[in-house]
Amino acid sequence: MEQRIITTHLNVYHFTELEPEIQVLVNKAKEQFQKAYAPYSRFNVGAAVLLENGALFEGNNQENSAYPSGLCAERVALFYAHAQFPDVPVKAIAIAAYTNGSIVETPITPCGGCRQVMVESESRFNHPFDIYMIGRTQIYHVAGISQLLPLQFSETDLANQ
Ligand code: THU
Repeated sequence: MEQRIITTHLNVYHFTELEPEIQVLVNKAKEQFQKAYAPYSRFNVGAAVLLENGALFEGNNQENSAYPSGLCAERVALFYAHAQFPDVPVKAIAIAAYTNGSIVETPITPCGGCRQVMVESESRFNHPFDIYMIGRTQIYHVAGISQLLPLQFSETDLANQ
């Protein structure tokens, strides 16, 4: 037996340490959770996507009385961006969450379904992107979805069998 250890590189930033372009992205994600439709969970999530051409797209969680029919903020924003610019890679995504009257203390990380969608968003352009997860005082950053979803399944697995 051989054991392989997989490590994740997580960077922790304060807002003022971020590039101006990323500060804008973070602020957009925080604006977006205010418009979330989350009457069932009361957990509002906002996401903002920056494309390599400079275009910005935002989204938030959209819930449904038939719970699984709702969609997370990350997927709303990413699908919106890809629908408008199908040929432009993503540069970065920022995610912010608000519940019980304030932005969450510990940054939330994307759910499993959104991580898999991010794998597709990277692999369709062969272009990893930055992921920023926003907490009240700290911002987590990873350089690419492989840091959050190791051993991922992607279209290369379909082709290589
Ligand atoms: N949610 C997101 O929008 N993004 C995440 O990363 C985690 C969870 C939403 C789904 C649901 O509307 C609510 O938050 C509670 O799970």
